[in-house]
Amino acid sequence: MNLAVVLVLCVCCVLLLSLWKQSSGKGNLPPGPTPLPIIGNIFQLDVRNITKSLSSLAKVYGPVFTVYLGPQRTVVLHGYEAVKEALVERAEEFSARGSFPVAEITNKGLGILFSNGKSWKEIRRFTLTTLRNLGMGKSSLEARVQEEAHHLVEELRKTNG
Ligand SMILES: *[C@@H]1O[C@H](CO)[C@@H](O)[C@H](O)[C@H]1NC(C)=O
Repeated sequence: MNLAVVLVLCVCCVLLLSLWKQSSGKGNLPPGPTPLPIIGNIFQLDVRNITKSLSSLAKVYGPVFTVYLGPQRTVVLHGYEAVKEALVERAEEFSARGSFPVAEITNKGLGILFSNGKSWKEIRRFTLTTLRNLGMGKSSLEARVQEEAHHLVEELRKTNG
């Protein structure tokens, strides 16, 4: 009896926390279907064909909408025009990556792939400069690659199959 009461209280707390988390910082989010606590919009999505589900949501809510993939709030850009506006016309605001906890733990958020913002820009500039100095994008690089490939083929020939 007491255990049941405790369980019900726990479930209520979890539901309330999840609702609070979903609505916190909601600000000016794009429209979207109303989420349920914890499971979000999972019932509005066909997990066997996410593409189709997102397309039909776009028909209702427009090319930019909010869905909850479980408890995770997600803003979807649907269609060429919306994606182009975000990635081309407003590239500066949209150039950041999502957070990858694994990369943040192992690389402290550094590196070419998972860094963000200022450090990403610096690393990108450094990488491009270094690769260009090495010959990236110049025809001299092709000659170097050809030469190395030639040596490799020679070595393979020496093994006689
Ligand atoms: C998903 O739905 C679309 C549109 O109905 C269809 O063209 C596509 O083949 C489906 N994909 C899968 C994996 O079922």
